[in-house]
Formats: sequence, structure tokens, C-alpha cells
Amino acid sequence: MLPMEAPGADRLLSGWLQTSVACNLIARDRQRAANSGRSPTWFAYGQADIEYCQSLSRREGRDVRASVFVGTSVDGFIARRNGDFDFLPEGGGEPHGYEEFLASVDVLVIGRHTYEKVLTFDSWPYAGKRVIVLSSRPLHLAKVGGAVLEQMSGTPAEITERLSGSGTQHAYVDGGITVQRFIRAGLIQRIIVTRVPVLIGDGIPLFGSLPADVLLRHVLTTTYPSGLVKSEYEVLT
Ligand SMILES: NC(=O)c1ccc[n+]([C@@H]2O[C@H](COP(=O)([O-])OP(=O)(O)OC[C@H]3O[C@@H](n4cnc5c(N)ncnc54)[C@H](OP(=O)(O)O)[C@@H]3O)[C@@H](O)[C@H]2O)c1
Repeated sequence: MLPMEAPGADRLLSGWLQTSVACNLIARDRQRAANSGRSPTWFAYGQADIEYCQSLSRREGRDVRASVFVGTSVDGFIARRNGDFDFLPEGGGEPHGYEEFLASVDVLVIGRHTYEKVLTFDSWPYAGKRVIVLSSRPLHLAKVGGAVLEQMSGTPAEITERLSGSGTQHAYVDGGITVQRFIRAGLIQRIIVTRVPVLIGDGIPLFGSLPADVLLRHVLTTTYPSGLVKSEYEVLT
């Protein structure tokens, strides 16, 4: 049970424990309390509540940690409308942690558009990594050297659950539409955005509409001599 302290809180939370909403509230409340050094704000919860939410999260495949690592223009675009990203520095620019990040993931989950773009590169950039290409249509996945490719489709929750079932621990989610769907589903835990000092005015956006605010905790911002600004956020809700 959640012992309520605020007037009306019991009505507000009634039934929510059966959903991940309550779990998100608990997680957010705990995070805020930890950040501020105070005890949880307006309700208390017991160990049983936390364990229930942890088991719910596991059932939903949330033991898979999913991250976004992306480069954007300062006005927030990951590519031009035609898919080109000539405004990003050639070869990713000066080292800013991409290689280390890539080494930390055991699977990439990329949208079909991103996959088709990557196929035009001189070489396959994810050699040796398991790559899931998302598409709702039949795809003939390329036999590129060193590629370990699979196709999946479904909701982000279904995909995450399948990844969890196959032992995935850290997934790299990439592609504008794909990232937006996963964020909307609450299935991204970390967002690392590297902004390139340019405005392009129009293009494919990294972020899109949301049913509710997504709270972030700023972890670190690093600036680089070439003008890259890398910011890392933890997703709280
Ligand atoms: N700047 C960067 O760091 C960066 C990073 C990645 C990509 N990009 C660029 O961004 C562009 C691509 O982004 P985008 O927003 O156009 O698309 P995207 O996310 O790469 O691909 C979208 C497509 O993926 C499929 N898809 C996504 N989620 C799915 C799901 N849950 N189930 C089934 N299919 C799903 C759908 O394909 P179907 O239509 O086949 O169903 C959808 O149309 C490319 O130009 C790429 O080069 C830039």
C-alpha cells in the first residue's frame, strides 16, 4: 500500500499502482529526493511498492537500458529533409565519446530510413554489432561485411521486450521517428546530444510531439574546441 499524506492523494493514485504511471512517479519522486538531499516529497511508499514496480518494469522489458547518441544542428535537426547530414562534421568531427559509447552497447535499434542512409556509406559502421532494423514492411537486409542484421516491427514496448528476452542490456536507439516513438513510450533512459554550431532552418527533427512533459536530469555538458557541445541527460519519466 501507498500510505498517503496529501489530501486527495488516495483518490489521485487509486488504481495507478497497477500501471507504470505509479512506478514512474515513484522513480521521479525518489530521484528528486536524492537530488535535493530531502526525503520523498508528498507521499511515502513501502519496499513492496518498489519491488512491485521493479517486477512490472522487468515484465515490460525495462531492464534493457536504451540510449540515444545523436548529432544535431543547434536548431535541433538530425538531417536535412532529403536525409543528407552534410552540416555535421565529416567523420563525426573531433572525438567526443562516440567510439566509447558504441563500445558500451550490445545492440543498435535503427529505423529503416537510417538503415538506408547507412547503406550508402563507404563501409558498414557497426561491424560486429547486432543491429535491429525497424520496419513495418518486408525488407531484404543487405549482406554487408561484418553486419549482424535482423528486422523487427511493433510497438517500442514489444521491441524492448524482445530485446530483453534475448539478453540485451544496453541498446542504442537511432533515427528521428524511431527515437521519438521510444521516447513517447517512456523507453529511453539516456539522451546524449551533440550540437554542431549551425542553424539549418528545416530538416528531420530529433524530437517531436509528446503526450506529456518528459523530465530530464542534466548529467554533463562538454564543449569542444571545434564548437561541438555535447549534453547528456538522464530521462526521469
Ligand atoms: N544526426 C544524426 O546523428 C543522425 C542519427 C540517425 C539518423 N540520422 C538521419 O536521420 C534520417 C532518418 O530519420 P527518420 O526520422 O527519417 O527515420 P528513422 O527513424 O530512421 O526511420 C523511420 C522508419 O523506421 C521504421 N520504424 C520506426 N519505428 C518502428 C516500429 N516501432 N515498428 C516498425 N517500424 C518502425 C518505419 O519504417 P517503415 O516505413 O518501413 O515501416 C519508419 O518509417 C536519415 O537521414 C539519417 O541519416 C541522423
